[in-house]
Amino acid sequence: MPGYPVLPEGIAYGGDYNPEQWPEEVWHDDVRLMREAGVNLVSLGIFNWSLLEPAEGVYDFGRLDRIIDLLDASGVKVDLATPTSSPPVWFRKAHPDSRLVDREGHVIAGGSRHSFCPSSPHYATAAGRIAERIASRYASHPAVVMWHVHNEYGWANAQCYCETSAEAFRDWLRERHGDVGALNTAWGTTFWGLTYGSFEEVEPPRVAPVGQLTGLQLDFARFCVDAHIANFRRERDVIRRFSDLPVTTNFMIPNCRPMDYWRWAGEVDVVSNDHYLDAARADGHIELALAADLTRSVAGGRPWMLMEHSTGAVNWQPRNLAKRPGEMRRNSLAHVARGSDSVLFFQWRASRYGAEKFHSAMLPHAGTGSELWNDVVALGAELGKLGRVRGSRVEADVALVWDWESYWALELEWRPTADLDFRERVEAFYEALWREHVTVDFVHPSADISGYKLVVAPSSYLLTEASAKNLHRYAEAGGHLVVSYFSGIVDENDTIHSGPYPGVLREVLGLSVEEFHPLRENETVALGDHGLTGRIWSERVRLAGAHAVQDFTEGPDAGHPAVTCHELGAGAAWYIATALDPSRDGDDGSTAPDPSRDEDTAPDPSRDEDTALDSSRGSDVIPDPSHDGDAVSDPAGDGDAALDPSRDGEAASDPARDGDVAEGRDSHGLPGAIHDGGVAGGRELRGVLRAILDRAGVSRPRGLPDTLEFVRRGDHVFLINHGHEPVTVRGVSGTGVFDDAEYPGPVTVPPGGVTVVERAGGA
Ligand code: GLA
Repeated sequence: MPGYPVLPEGIAYGGDYNPEQWPEEVWHDDVRLMREAGVNLVSLGIFNWSLLEPAEGVYDFGRLDRIIDLLDASGVKVDLATPTSSPPVWFRKAHPDSRLVDREGHVIAGGSRHSFCPSSPHYATAAGRIAERIASRYASHPAVVMWHVHNEYGWANAQCYCETSAEAFRDWLRERHGDVGALNTAWGTTFWGLTYGSFEEVEPPRVAPVGQLTGLQLDFARFCVDAHIANFRRERDVIRRFSDLPVTTNFMIPNCRPMDYWRWAGEVDVVSNDHYLDAARADGHIELALAADLTRSVAGGRPWMLMEHSTGAVNWQPRNLAKRPGEMRRNSLAHVARGSDSVLFFQWRASRYGAEKFHSAMLPHAGTGSELWNDVVALGAELGKLGRVRGSRVEADVALVWDWESYWALELEWRPTADLDFRERVEAFYEALWREHVTVDFVHPSADISGYKLVVAPSSYLLTEASAKNLHRYAEAGGHLVVSYFSGIVDENDTIHSGPYPGVLREVLGLSVEEFHPLRENETVALGDHGLTGRIWSERVRLAGAHAVQDFTEGPDAGHPAVTCHELGAGAAWYIATALDPSRDGDDGSTAPDPSRDEDTAPDPSRDEDTALDSSRGSDVIPDPSHDGDAVSDPAGDGDAALDPSRDGEAASDPARDGDVAEGRDSHGLPGAIHDGGVAGGRELRGVLRAILDRAGVSRPRGLPDTLEFVRRGDHVFLINHGHEPVTVRGVSGTGVFDDAEYPGPVTVPPGGVTVVERAGGA
């Protein structure tokens, strides 16, 4: 693989740089300020095509030459882009048949980026040509350290339904199915008499009057991913003729549903990702952590690059909230904690015109006199001290199954309930584990999972027989498997596996499901006698080897199993037949961004006053002092309880929790922590998972509040406090990376603060 990391040392810091929007005299200011902020890498030329090739075959590289030379002279390295996400106006005019067509048949207008058909041969030729010009010209330039092909494949033109696409789709189908009979079988076209006589008769899944062949829809989704990958490969291979520097393209994990990034993973030399917080969510930092863990997993555990995020507000959400004080820092360091070797933003200097003029930037409209600028400079200085983290890895004992094909299939029309939602279930399990301070990897269900202590399949509706066997082998070999409802139902063509549900998972789970009983909107059902509450789903489980851990006590399946366990030698397979919520400590809302300016100063009361007026924001909720009190005290009383014993050789005794576990197994055979409704946060999914984590031997920090994000990356421990109260973490010793302080014992992380400790001696 071409050389990575891309910089001689340290964490890459910077962002998209669009100097073409500014007169050249501004560029000198830019590079001076970049140096001040510690910027060492910029992504250049992403939207430059019309300037580099103002007319077909006519080139002008003067401006790009000058800016690259200027950056080089200033010591700022360049991630050089091919500008192919935004073809010039002349291209669109010259090739009307390359225009993007939506599912309804509308020809999508220009005046924007991404407005082209991914299967257009004219686009392929033009994009390959400009990529070749750029690669040949700059391959040996000393400032260029990596290549940034295109920008966010599939963001706005994931699918095109024009005739060119239709033709390419037919070719793709011929390749996949061989003959039309095989296609008919795969798609089940005898249903409604939709049999195809030849591939020529197949149309893309344009708007249909009523439910459409789901096999057709899934194959079209796969074809579209491959069309974008083909475009990427063309440019990457052109670049490789001139350069052996790493080639990437920026992904949008997990927020670009049409792109199956498992398919993309092997194509890039380094995985890079763009991530933007959803400002509507008070717990956006948990979704950020999920995105970062999934990105690391797509990268196969190798370090990856955060190619874009924002210093503050974006401009494209319904309400674009500026980041709260300290939030940009927490976000940035959370990405690094979870495996990123870069902190890059969209964009360096805020635009004065165009669609994104209200988007935040490293250098905002308010200029260098702003708090934001001070924060950007301070972050650059801190990242300068984090260089030794580069290249190190995050190890996880727990894996969550994530499959884009299952995501697509689950959300096709006419499912048992509209409340089935892939993201909702994955996020519920992820959140429960995050709040238990468990770092997870994500895996495709066919991946090698033998190294994990626990594997959770939160939403595996589409599961091939081979993948199901993989899960079965894992549990039989001593692994611990958790499966949530409506999993293992269909194969890759959306055909139901034969026999009772859950088809290919019946054997490993030791049960079958006779009937689905989806619940009414907002209806809940109780289960067990410890306050567990299910939403969305209930079903009639028939045991066939498994035993019931909790029964439904309400609803259509009252008296029948809701949580089950199938013992398989040393391993076990659990099943959860309803939607349990993750639950948070004390439900106090304390995960909202903290109001304090920084870790050294007291909270600014004026800010609190502001937010206190707005009762719609989760951040207003006053934290529950009782749970924070727990957090700062050492529950074990031994001064070193917080860390994972298996890694530190320290006993992680937490009487509150271990006491529950010590109750022994409940009447149905699950360790007793499932009963721990008495411990804050112990109810619902967290309580169930906590018991399974213990059974699987997954060690993790104990006694910490669930607002404290705890991640270990190589020799570094990242402690990110998303709460309003200081948190003392015991058992972490070493050197504070930012303050150079020695921490022989407990580390106190201020509200909203981040402490990174490099363990002494690299232990
Ligand atoms: C995406 C794009 C950028 C910019 C940002 C704005 O990530 O790649 O060009 O539009 O969104 O948030």
